[in-house]
Parts: sequence; C-alpha cells; structure tokens
Amino acid sequence: MRAGIIGIGSFLPDKVMPNSELEKIVDTTNEWIVERTGILNRRIAQAHISSSDLGAEAARLAIKDANLKAEDIDMIISASSSPDCTFPATACIIQDKIRAINAAAFDIQAACTGFVYGLTTAAQFIMTGKYKNVLVVGSEVLSKVTDWQDRNTCILFGDGAGAVVVSQVQKGGITTSFLGADGSGANLLELPAGGTKEPADYDTVKNRRHYIKMNGNEVFKFAVKVFESSTRRVVEKANLTLDDIDLIIPHQANIRIIDAAVRRLKFPIERVMVNLDKYGNMSSASIPVAMHEAVRMGKIKKGDKIILVAFGAGLTWGAVLIEWNL
Ligand code: COA
Repeated sequence: MRAGIIGIGSFLPDKVMPNSELEKIVDTTNEWIVERTGILNRRIAQAHISSSDLGAEAARLAIKDANLKAEDIDMIISASSSPDCTFPATACIIQDKIRAINAAAFDIQAACTGFVYGLTTAAQFIMTGKYKNVLVVGSEVLSKVTDWQDRNTCILFGDGAGAVVVSQVQKGGITTSFLGADGSGANLLELPAGGTKEPADYDTVKNRRHYIKMNGNEVFKFAVKVFESSTRRVVEKANLTLDDIDLIIPHQANIRIIDAAVRRLKFPIERVMVNLDKYGNMSSASIPVAMHEAVRMGKIKKGDKIILVAFGAGLTWGAVLIEWNL
C-alpha cells in the first residue's frame, strides 16, 4: 500500500513582529538580522493561545481540504518543540478540540525535525493497512519559550502551525524517507529546565533555564551538513537524481543555511521553497506551513517530486521524498 498527503492546512497568528520591534527589546539591528538570517518578520500568538490552539485550527483546515470529517481520523500525531505541557500529549488536546473522537493520539519529540518524523511514522500506519487516515500536526508557540533578553536566539523564532492528512493513495505519495539522530549533540540546542533533570525551582527560573539555549555556530555547521546528506540519501533510496526533483522544502531556520546546503547540492535555488523572511523559524511548523504556501502559490503540481528536509535539536535530522497527489 502507498501513503500520500490528501489534505493540507496551516494557521498563523495575526500579530506580525518586524525586526524593528526587536531593536527595541535587545541590542540588535534590522540590518544584522536580515544579513545573518534572512528573517524580516515573525508571527506572535496572543497570550492565551497555546500550541494546541494553532494546531487545532491547522488540523481543521487539513481535514476539510481532504474532504473528510474529524470522525474519519484514526490517529493524530503532533510534533511540537513548545507543547502545551509535558503531559498530556498536545495531540490529545488537539483531538478534543477538533472532536476527532475515533482517533488515537500521541506526540513526537524531534524538535524542528518533528514534522518529518511524524510524516514518516504516519506513512507506516497507512502502508501496513492498520489505519485509513492519519493527521500529522506541527504547531508551535515558540514565543513563550524564547528568551526575549537573548539576542542570539530571540531574533530567530516565530509561532504558527501546519497539518496534513495522510491516507492510502494509488500512485506516488511518500516514496522514501530517511531519519537520523545524534544525542551526543543534545546540549547544542535545548530547553534545559522543567523536566526531571532540572526540575523547576527558584534557580531555574532566575537563571532563565526555561528558555531555548543554543550554540548557534555549531548548530549552523551541523544543519548544513545534514541538509545535504539527508537530501542525497532520499534521492538515492528512490533511485532518482536531484535533476528529477521539482521542489525542495527545507526547514526554515536561516537563509544562509539553505543557501550553503543548496550550493553543496548544486541544486537551483529557484526550486527551493523559502518563506522564513515572513515567519522566522517555526520549528515543527515550518515545513507544513511552507508546503501549504507552495501549494497555494502553484509551486507544487500533481505528480511533482518534492523533498522535505529538516534538522534540529536532539540532534535530529531527516528527509522525505513525496510524489504529490493533490
Ligand atoms: N544582533 C547583533 N549582533 C548579534 C546578534 C544580534 N541579534 N546575535 C549575535 N550577535 C553578535 C555576536 O555577539 C557576535 O559578536 P562578537 O563578534 O562581538 O562576539 C557576532 O554577532 C557574531 O556572532 P555569531 O554567533 O558568530 O553570528 P553568526 O553569523 O553565526 O549568526 C546565528 C548567529 C544564530 C544567526 C547563526 O549562528 C545561526 O543561524 N545558527 C543556526 C541557528 C538555528 O538555525 N537554530 C535552529 C536550528 S533548528
């Protein structure tokens, strides 16, 4: 059996935060942010909004796009670096919000690679015939776990959500997939406190340990390397060459990461989806939001071969090759 995407949706908070607003919060400039990252704006969720709220909106749109009802969903896989809480799973909260009463629900924690891990997992449940319709959601309210006093990180992130429905298809679909991890790099990008290693206490709050910490230079080098290797792996596994690929949709972290990896691949930048200028890095939501935007812009047509490629905390990385069904 083949698995493919039969519906897609995305949802972004209305509030736009331009770089000029960051100039008022930390010691930075619009020029520095644009030159080093390519980011111009990001969206910021309202104070009462959590990841499951954005995820539920994107999920409703994806289910509608698939011409299904929430009751038709057999399983929800939610990927988030900024989940509603440690438990219950954000997937369960989304399940309740959209009334997907027949769905099993669980979370995947693979940070910015979460959507690629989730999509790969969803495809297995479809290909074995176990389930008919699996919803994969990437949703983030990173603005609530961002340290707004740290200019190294606060310029990078934004809020948003994207979702897809994965079901059985006759042709094409999710053709090949490759996932990787290296836990020895765990400390390069982390949200250290609030778990059982550093439970919340006065010091963890005082020392701002409940916010994202990152070694930007090391993460940058890692990202360029695994972007290239993961892309090559899925193409080789599918017995194709990069010339056969119509569009690469990478995780939207930094334009310099994308440029460097694409140069190494000798792949034309015109066939790479980039929207990080508008939204910044939305972790697990970046790829589904970019994919939805590419569909709406007419950049993806039925039968096109596209690659989703991601990298992030863990460290984790992965890529999926899809022959587009919609
Ligand atoms: N505004 C102005 N200056 C800044 C700044 C900011 N927002 N952030 C850092 N700087 C300064 C640094 O303090 C440093 O100053 P110094 O030379 O006096 O020490 C200088 O700019 C260069 O810092 P550096 O960290 O080398 O910059 P960079 O070119 O590597 O860019 C990142 C920093 C964070 C943009 C870049 O490393 C990056 O994008 N890394 C990957 C991050 C990422 O994508 N993470 C998520 C992966 S899923």
